Amino acid sequence: MIEFINEYQIFKLDTKNTTYAFKIVHDDFSVHLYYGKRNDDAERLNALYSESPVSFAPYNRQIGVNFSLDTVATELSFFDSGDLKDTAVKIQNENGDCVTLFKYRGYEILDGAVKLGQLPNSFGADKTLCVKYEDIVSGCFLYSYYSIFYESDTIARFNKVVSTGKKAVIKKIASGQLDFGKADFTFLSICGSYYNEGHILEYPVHIGKQGVYSNSGHTSHKFNPFCMLKSPCATETNGDVYGIELVYSGDFEIQAEKTISGFIRLMAGINHETFSWELEDYFYTPEMILTYSDRGVGQVSRNLHNHLRNHLINPEFVVKKRPVVVNTWEASYFDIDEEKLFQFAEIAKKIGIDTLVVDDGWFGKRNDDTSSLGDWRVNKTKFKSGLRAFSRKVHDLGMNLGIWIEPEMISENSELYRLHPEFVLKAKDRECSLGRHQMVLDLCNPKAIEYVVHELTETLADVRLEYIKWDFNRSLSEVGSCVLPDGKQNETKHRFILGVYEMHKKLTEAFRGVLFEGCSGGGGRVDAGILSFCPQIWVSDNTDPVERVRIQNAMSLAYPLSAVSCHVSNTVLNAMEKGTDYGLRFNVAAGGVLGYELNLLQLTGKTKEEIAKQIKKYNAISPLILTGDLYRVDGLDCGQSAFYILSKEKDVACVYYYNVGQSKRNVTLANILPNWKFLDFETGKSVNLDEIDLTAKTNFLHIYQVLSVKNENA
Ligand code: DGJ
Repeated sequence: MIEFINEYQIFKLDTKNTTYAFKIVHDDFSVHLYYGKRNDDAERLNALYSESPVSFAPYNRQIGVNFSLDTVATELSFFDSGDLKDTAVKIQNENGDCVTLFKYRGYEILDGAVKLGQLPNSFGADKTLCVKYEDIVSGCFLYSYYSIFYESDTIARFNKVVSTGKKAVIKKIASGQLDFGKADFTFLSICGSYYNEGHILEYPVHIGKQGVYSNSGHTSHKFNPFCMLKSPCATETNGDVYGIELVYSGDFEIQAEKTISGFIRLMAGINHETFSWELEDYFYTPEMILTYSDRGVGQVSRNLHNHLRNHLINPEFVVKKRPVVVNTWEASYFDIDEEKLFQFAEIAKKIGIDTLVVDDGWFGKRNDDTSSLGDWRVNKTKFKSGLRAFSRKVHDLGMNLGIWIEPEMISENSELYRLHPEFVLKAKDRECSLGRHQMVLDLCNPKAIEYVVHELTETLADVRLEYIKWDFNRSLSEVGSCVLPDGKQNETKHRFILGVYEMHKKLTEAFRGVLFEGCSGGGGRVDAGILSFCPQIWVSDNTDPVERVRIQNAMSLAYPLSAVSCHVSNTVLNAMEKGTDYGLRFNVAAGGVLGYELNLLQLTGKTKEEIAKQIKKYNAISPLILTGDLYRVDGLDCGQSAFYILSKEKDVACVYYYNVGQSKRNVTLANILPNWKFLDFETGKSVNLDEIDLTAKTNFLHIYQVLSVKNENA
């Protein structure tokens, strides 16, 4: 699966359907040869490399005019050493210049994956290649890792820089780079804003630089740390597509650069504009996941889904049925107390909901969003008998209990701030801005982490809980840390993220067996880093079903359906709906991990019956959401969308269809799934696909037994 072909000096990394190859030339340089469809012809791979002189391209005086780092594709590129494109690694040397040049010094092939310091990374790799480089001026070694995941057709890359004692400051270090000789691609990404997540952005890669990034201190609503590079005619089911995803929750950048000659370079990693690092011993970059398929966008999504489910998400939760929750936020906001919530639990139990989630407002003096973050002690006015007793009562009903926390934050109006003002993340001599009336804890300070972890574990220690929602409701600004010396202030944002992961590690370990759900005002922190602690994420506060069709579709490009938490609510935003159509809302929310966010006390008997039926139906769908393969249907009109989930055994399928736009186009199930044969579970009869006319429907959701699959992509 990973071999070094001595004859050609080629490293060849194979997964089931892909090959990645690079070559050592002139003893010192690793040049990229190929990433694409499985290719076992080493001679042809070797023939992909050529050298020729190009005017103005700086060349190495020993090797001669034919070899320039500016004109060959490389595995990693180095600042100001002859490569005139944007480069992946820039280190400031003791002498103050930033000339960087790492040269090849050997390799090692390891079994399994390598743990990435304090950062989360993929487990269960088949093999890992570690390539060693040395820069003699900075005195640093660079180890570049490639882990291969044979079955999911994915490769995970990251780099480690090790100091040998000389003063060196890392100014930029990408997790990986992908050079394409002459190429033509469309750049596909997910962008948005608060309450408006999940817009798919696609444009041809143009000459110059383009990409996605965050400078908010968290991944942010603005862009997701993910992209695809599609060949221009690629579709859902055909064509060459590359997928890239970062396992990181802080400031990131994924950049594509194209030159006039058509050369494209893709780089991904920490956003170097808000980062630098004085190297003391070693530094790890976050991990970058790569995949490729010649079977279109759909297969790339499935590869990423398989990778995240099998190699990143806590295995304990991958196949375990997820709770169907009722969450108190949209139902009651801060107006909660134990009597009211117990009534919620009683109704919830009757209609098949299994978990009551107490959202914001249960602690300190939190009656609105102006106070108490950091004061993680139960509010005795709202929970007179305490959380422990409340949990016992809820469990006696046969219900499970969940709770909301926002551990990385601190309110100005809180006991914690009065006690520890130094716990606030803040640049020296600056006033810090507020966001939602709150400030951010300085997670570079281990004492701040310890304090909050201690408070939360004390308060929740004997409270039986099955679920914790972890929120994060503001972006970072005026960033600095009073525990770091002046020269290290620019390290604050990355150190903050290391603190975020440390806190996740500590709390998920303290509450083992409890399912954590990530959230950041909805979709402000949807990324593979968070997924390694929280198997599911609340991807938007927007629960309008029409908007959700778009949001969930976009998220499915990069994240498995089991990672996306979706609630039925009664927020009415869209003019299309007359009243609240719980049918549509359910059929949309059942495309992920289903929950409810409704005031159960206000529901009519009819609605309660409807919800009970929905949950029964969802319980049958839920195994497919957890482990099935997703197939999005291409070529429908704007506002129409369809997808199906097929079990791994290909014997059960769940078909989803929505028409939430203006389209009057005639659609039958036969259009969506030509030549399939189904048996209807409910009637036991075989299904004539032409007879299931979707034209007049705004939504459709049905689960079938599959008699034969005719889609060659499945
Ligand atoms: C933002 C989240 O996205 C909401 O679901 C809710 O938990 C609120 N925070 C609570 O303050």
